[in-house]
Amino acid sequence: MSDATIGVLPGDGVGPEVTRQAADVLQAVADRYGHRFDLRTGLVGLAAVTALGVAIDDETFDACAGSDAILFGAVGSLPADRSPAGRRPAGAVRPEHALWRLRKELQLFANLRPVQALESLHDASTIKPECLRGTDLVFVRELSAGLYYGHLESVPGKPSEIRRTPQGAQAVDTLLYTEHEIERVVRVAFELAVGRRGRVTSVDKANVLSSSLLWREVVDRVAPDYPTVVYDHLLVDACAMRLLRAPAEFDVVVTENLFGDILTDEASMLAGSIGMLPSASLGARRTAAGTFGLYEPIHGSAPDIAGQDVANPVGAILSAAMLLRHSLGLADEAAVVERAVEEVLDQGYRTPDLHHDGCTLVGTRALGRLVVDRVAAS
Ligand code: IPM
Ligand code: MG
Repeated sequence: MSDATIGVLPGDGVGPEVTRQAADVLQAVADRYGHRFDLRTGLVGLAAVTALGVAIDDETFDACAGSDAILFGAVGSLPADRSPAGRRPAGAVRPEHALWRLRKELQLFANLRPVQALESLHDASTIKPECLRGTDLVFVRELSAGLYYGHLESVPGKPSEIRRTPQGAQAVDTLLYTEHEIERVVRVAFELAVGRRGRVTSVDKANVLSSSLLWREVVDRVAPDYPTVVYDHLLVDACAMRLLRAPAEFDVVVTENLFGDILTDEASMLAGSIGMLPSASLGARRTAAGTFGLYEPIHGSAPDIAGQDVANPVGAILSAAMLLRHSLGLADEAAVVERAVEEVLDQGYRTPDLHHDGCTLVGTRALGRLVVDRVAAS
């Protein structure tokens, strides 16, 4: 019996709908396997900005920091806010600040994003089935440093700003990595590879960037500690191409923050839809049976389809499975959830993002319910 406290942050757009399904699946696991999960819901993102003036307040942040894991939905602006006319001034409070604060202050530096091309979804992908066959890889994206963190005033010497000068405007972002920040995430990747197919691809832009030269240096220094792992370096542009040409060749891919953000959206097309991909953001803090982490689907808040019961909840549900495995030490229960999702998809149930003739079209809630029923019957 496991007793855990889980912070639940549904956020904006489709976040609440998909998080609801993931939370129901966690509850089904608790009921079926005799655990007690105390799910505590908090406000983040646009909803918090509107109600509280901040993307996440200290009370919610502290409650999450003290929990065993965080289940996160999505945060983001309304569609109108994305138009140039509606854009917020630089420096204004943004819904995304909630995510940046959680990732940075909780030091969630290793973002695991597994990508599998399930056979039942090959025909939903835009890539040819013969390319997809055997695709089973995991990205380890560095998540708490790099270009993303220049905007934080608390990080001196890393400017990220637009400067108005008499000669016209200029803008600067700072890409800074310390050796320590690189080494800890690279070690996560190699450790992961030991338990998988023993292959690490480190992705950088070492023909241009100093940060990438240091990245390579650290990888070359760390690799000999893992003699069973074969590794290589790959430039990010070549990686973008090879992900579509021969995705099955990859096992573990480790890369810096922005490259990882972009490449994982690309890789989601191997799985058929961005709605499919889960993620785990892990730090160093241990829980009673695992590692503290934040779990979220990799998709955004998708405000254009919010509230219509059409969003794919699989990324959120598989994130809950990762939570069970990594933070609560419940690997068997995680596998039950993953099998339940596969079964539902094998049986032809699809949300609109994956739907085609011959499949059964279902909504967010119905798909979640199908998974819950299978967990309950496991
Ligand atoms: C992701 C998202 C975020 C990111 C956004 C919402 C800030 O795209 O988790 O991949 O860029 O990290
Ligand atoms: Mg992204």
